[in-house]
Amino acid sequence: MATFIVLLGPPGVGKGTQARILAEAKKLAHISSGDLFRENIKNKTELGNHAREFIDKGELVPDDVTIGMIRERLNRPDCKAGAILDGFPRTPVQAMALEKMLADFNGQISAVPYITAPEEVLVGRIGGRWTCRLHGHVYHQMFNPPMKAGVCDIDDSELYQREDDKVETVTMRIRVYLEQTIPLVEYYRKTGKLVEIDGTKPVELVSKDLCSAVSK
Ligand code: AP5
Repeated sequence: MATFIVLLGPPGVGKGTQARILAEAKKLAHISSGDLFRENIKNKTELGNHAREFIDKGELVPDDVTIGMIRERLNRPDCKAGAILDGFPRTPVQAMALEKMLADFNGQISAVPYITAPEEVLVGRIGGRWTCRLHGHVYHQMFNPPMKAGVCDIDDSELYQREDDKVETVTMRIRVYLEQTIPLVEYYRKTGKLVEIDGTKPVELVSKDLCSAVSK
């Protein structure tokens, strides 16, 4: 049976950073809904143009569009053994849709790590983030700087600051998270799969806690 791990947590808490590490450690695919949208925006696809209207305002992309995109991604061969889901689901409707999709794929959610940090930590992390244009590798000007300013260590591509990382958009993203995604915490707590992870620790320590939590 394929194994899926759902990473829950507010904007900027480190889901993407941890999902990459965990996917490599567990030899599972990494599915980031945010990265998929940004890829579509970069390629100027119809989905990307539509999603951009919401992302630039800090709002969620409508459920039907998001669910369709994830269903298509789950159908790719690298998800046969399972995946780390980073940024999906984000609403109760998406969580229900995921249950149905996983039933079709003979998959199951094995754990739901919920990474937390106070709002001032989130704002500081998002404000210092630099993202690689080619593959979305993530850096922080203080906590995880690239070896050469403005250049990705891994693929040499340019680093940029995301359009939705402006202060006013970040405030909106956090509000949307509290209103629309927080209900999933109770939903997954009831399944017994939720495990809280202190996201304020350095990357390596969060990673250690996460690995031991999902191995239990
Ligand atoms: P998305 O890209 O998913 O954004 P997000 O959830 O807001 O999360 P972020 O990418 O901002 O942060 P992260 O938690 O991954 O942190 P990171 O590892 O980068 O979504 C963007 C938009 O797309 C949404 O607003 C929405 O419009 C749309 N969307 C996406 N999914 C959707 C869905 N399911 N439904 C509808 N719409 C959807 O780390 C942040 C920074 O901190 C980095 O600089 C990193 O280097 C640093 N850092 C990480 N961990 C640590 C640490 N432990 N200590 C110090 N620094 C750290």
